[in-house]
Amino acid sequence: MINDLWYKNAVIYCLSVDTYMDANGDGIGDFAGLMRRLDYLHGLGVTAIWLMPFQSSPGRDGGYDISDYYQVDPRYGTLGDFVEFTHAAKQRGVRVIIDLVVNHTSDQHAWFQSARHDPKSPYRDWYVWSKKRPRNANKGMVFPGVQKSTWNFDPAARAWYFHRFYDFQPDLNTSNLHVQAEILKIMGFWIQLGVSGFRMDAVPFVISTKGAQVRKPVEQYEMLRAMREFLQWRQGDAIILAEANVLPSTDMNYFGRSGDRMHMMFNFQVNQHLFYALAKGDARPLRHALKATQRLPKTAQWGMFLRNNDELDLGRLTKKQRESVFAAFGPEPAMQLYERGIRRRLAPMLDGDRRRIEMAYSLMFTLPGAAVLRYGDELGMGDDLSLPERQCARTPMQWSTEPNAGFTKSENPILPVIHEGPYGYDHVNAAAQRRDPESLLNWTERIIRMRKEVPEIGWGRFESMATGESSVLAIEYEWRNNWALFVHNLGSAPREILLTVKAPEGSGKLLINLLSEDHSQAQADGRHRLLLEGYGYRWYRVGGLDYLLKRSDIDGST
Ligand code: NOJ
Ligand code: CA
Repeated sequence: MINDLWYKNAVIYCLSVDTYMDANGDGIGDFAGLMRRLDYLHGLGVTAIWLMPFQSSPGRDGGYDISDYYQVDPRYGTLGDFVEFTHAAKQRGVRVIIDLVVNHTSDQHAWFQSARHDPKSPYRDWYVWSKKRPRNANKGMVFPGVQKSTWNFDPAARAWYFHRFYDFQPDLNTSNLHVQAEILKIMGFWIQLGVSGFRMDAVPFVISTKGAQVRKPVEQYEMLRAMREFLQWRQGDAIILAEANVLPSTDMNYFGRSGDRMHMMFNFQVNQHLFYALAKGDARPLRHALKATQRLPKTAQWGMFLRNNDELDLGRLTKKQRESVFAAFGPEPAMQLYERGIRRRLAPMLDGDRRRIEMAYSLMFTLPGAAVLRYGDELGMGDDLSLPERQCARTPMQWSTEPNAGFTKSENPILPVIHEGPYGYDHVNAAAQRRDPESLLNWTERIIRMRKEVPEIGWGRFESMATGESSVLAIEYEWRNNWALFVHNLGSAPREILLTVKAPEGSGKLLINLLSEDHSQAQADGRHRLLLEGYGYRWYRVGGLDYLLKRSDIDGST
């Protein structure tokens, strides 16, 4: 086994350059500003920063409509600023991964403009056309309720073009070998500028067959292997983190049976069932989802997350399950989106209740995988539901009590800063939280530090154990002769559980609490009696603190 797969145990922090920090006072975040906040991110302890799209773009879908893959949008800086940033991150030991958005381009991209104006253009076949209106033109929208169709007529081309997402995002014909070659060229370009890999957008759509005649799209998984091969050759430690909201039965197609496709995938199955479990105060749906996604190649890893840049997509739950998550976390229609999700940020969903927020994050950090955080969540930032669609959860980072939260000196920030109510920047900001040892920011910093000292989570085998209480989840990890145990009470009522630890006889007798003094000694019958308050959580090392001396150098050995 290769020991230095950094992503197996990573903490990834997702941010958007335009709302993070504005250095030149024009109201738009930029690379110069982000660079000055690298010490903050380094202090928080993140392994990698995931940048949402920052390439040239009309910006009609948060930058996911790219008009030039080889430029930084001038509003954020220059390629020079970008390289200064990746260099500065590297000096601090922080990696950078960036979005790779190649399912579609902006309709303003020169390729599309050439393609639509000239049937003989070399780029004509880079997009997906139909002379007649396809029969399924109003099927398969990703943003139902907002997006009206998946095919639009383009008067210049005198043909219909396919767009899986908004109509200003024409799909690339990814089966075209020239398009495939260009995708590799884009990856090679950014690798050369210092990134450690990519979060690949909309992967199932990228690899699907597309066209007016395509009734049932077929995934061309071999494309994933080709991308992986290219990347690994250009830079051995670079990774792809796939955005693929797929069923557990197809997971292995994305990872590759021998781990030769995607390095990482977001675990949407666990994400949706986790929110259902939180809504019901019942750990069982989460246990099932963990079991369903347990099998993956040794070199692969899950990205575990709570909220991301989009809505909380609950499309994989049953209607009844979804209804109960809506009722618990987003009861008003304005809180919901696309007939399947909730668009709020985490803290308001959990009523700003510190116990629930800590428990949810503690859970995320201890689930089998690498953790993916979203900017501002370390402060408990809120949302602005007056903004359309997903913009509500993309407001500027709240740095201080200075005007506009210290995000910008301009009076016109790119998106309004949250300035009133319990999540306003005078209450919720990094400067104040840094000074307060008990703040969520300092809690997050401590929990990340502890997470990094428990590599069992990223590398080990795990088992979720019966606790006798449906609200309590207990997960035990084993890796190289070391054991760790995590217990979470998803319910509001206190619970007492009796637990038999799996670690071998002897070492299982003592549980050292990693976060407080409340350790546990097994009863005479070998079981541990643990009392958890409502929303309580415990991180235990099994056996004594001399575990490091017992750690083996190889897997599967004692
Ligand atoms: C997924 C991204 O997360 C989302 O924000 C975007 O709108 C779509 N892909 C289309 O690129
Ligand atoms: Ca700026």
